Amino acid sequence: MHTALPSDAGSRNTAVVGLQWGDEGKGKIVDLLTARHDVIVRYNGGANAGHTVTVGGERYALHLIPSGILYPDKTCVIGNGVVVDPEKLLEEIANLRRRGIEVGGNLVVSNRAHLVLPYHKEQDAAYEEFLAARSGLGEASAAIGTTRRGIGPAYADKVRRSTAVRVGDLLHPERLRARLEIACGLRAAEMEALGVKAPPPDPEALAARFAAVGRTLAPHVADTVYLLHGFVREGRSVLFEGANASLLDIDHGTYPFVTSSNCSSLGIPAGTGLPGRLVGRVVGIMKAYSTRVGGGPFPTELLDEIGSRIRERGREYGTTTGRPRRCGWLDLVAVRYAAMLCGADALACTLLDVLSGLDELRLCVKYRRGRETTERFLPDAEDLEGWEPVYEVLPGWREELAGTADRKSLPANAQRYLARIEEVVGVPIELVGVGPERTQTLSAAGRGI
Ligand code: GDP
Ligand code: IMO
Ligand code: MG
Repeated sequence: MHTALPSDAGSRNTAVVGLQWGDEGKGKIVDLLTARHDVIVRYNGGANAGHTVTVGGERYALHLIPSGILYPDKTCVIGNGVVVDPEKLLEEIANLRRRGIEVGGNLVVSNRAHLVLPYHKEQDAAYEEFLAARSGLGEASAAIGTTRRGIGPAYADKVRRSTAVRVGDLLHPERLRARLEIACGLRAAEMEALGVKAPPPDPEALAARFAAVGRTLAPHVADTVYLLHGFVREGRSVLFEGANASLLDIDHGTYPFVTSSNCSSLGIPAGTGLPGRLVGRVVGIMKAYSTRVGGGPFPTELLDEIGSRIRERGREYGTTTGRPRRCGWLDLVAVRYAAMLCGADALACTLLDVLSGLDELRLCVKYRRGRETTERFLPDAEDLEGWEPVYEVLPGWREELAGTADRKSLPANAQRYLARIEEVVGVPIELVGVGPERTQTLSAAGRGI
């Protein structure tokens, strides 16, 4: 029987969300915060995410599995809001096991999460090519520059309903075959209209292939809504792991150059089945500069040697696709907007070490167009066009930061840079990243948390 939740039920729980266009170092911070939580939950996105955790020189790239998986005594949950490519998931499980990481009862997947199937990935690529060809300006224009992981088409099927297939369907071969027949029939008609030459998907073959996948995944599949509510009632703490990031949020990002889910903290209740008041504390993750992969507006982008320097020092190449990331100065108008949306209580500023050696640093504090200025972010690609960043210039520092013991030991100009970020965003910085290792994270008290 349902009884009301105690009023402080959210106080143990934390959300980690990206405040820029992704790759802020969420994986590293989730791994760190996992130490003081019991359950780690992904609520959005799919294998478009690439979260890196580095421990003792070992680098793990996670795509669908929560970044808490390296701790054997924690439970990792893939919530209903995620779109799951089941073959990629099995591959990820196998890769982790090969490296000695335990993946068994500690990984649970929602039976209501939607599936990414092979035709979604083909469709993703076909749409991107269609858009690039129609715009006449190459892929950089109308095409979104997706990861081609089938994310948009899978979420589109979820919203369309009739052509969707869910994780739970994998466990019922007849139901799976019936759903695939409808989905493949419609797909074949669409492919013909798009002029795709490949043969249409074969529902029989897919049903056999994915029923086998279902047999392997079965021990991990559950109703995660009841499971999570049970954990909360037992007093276990939950860490929500955002994938992608706030400026890629389908409702609040730089539309249409966004992904297809609510990646800000606003997606947590719908993507897990836990009410919003259980999201006790929100930690917004931001890099000390900006990056973006794929198309879309990026007011502070640097196309010069400073941009290339940041890319090389920060190893700014996609964890999922290997694409070089576009790099630029820190856009605090964008971060302040994302912190507002997410209700960020604290910030983690990652990759500060990458900025060592620059004579001066720039912080974008507002935008200008002609004589007009604004401190507001414009979450629409076309509205944002034509606005130029207005920068404050701060002195840089030459020291390498990798070995820094605590925040107070950072060079004075690095401390000044962080203090100005806190002032403009209006949220305190709780953690500072000075290297990819779990231990290269500074809190007020020193290294670690
Ligand atoms: P995520 O998608 O938000 O989890 O971030 P990614 O893993 O895609 O990209 C962040 C990259 O920066 C990874 O290669 C991390 O290992 C690395 N990283 C994270 N924090 C730091 C940091 O403070 N300094 C440096 N130099 N690298 C970091
Ligand atoms: P993590 O979790 C960076 C970007 C893609 C593209 C747009 C839409 O590692 O921070 P999609 O494949 O989702 O339809 O692509 O969103 N994108 C990301 N960029 N990090 C991510 O995830 C991203 N997930 C999606 O590059 O521009
Ligand atoms: Mg990433």
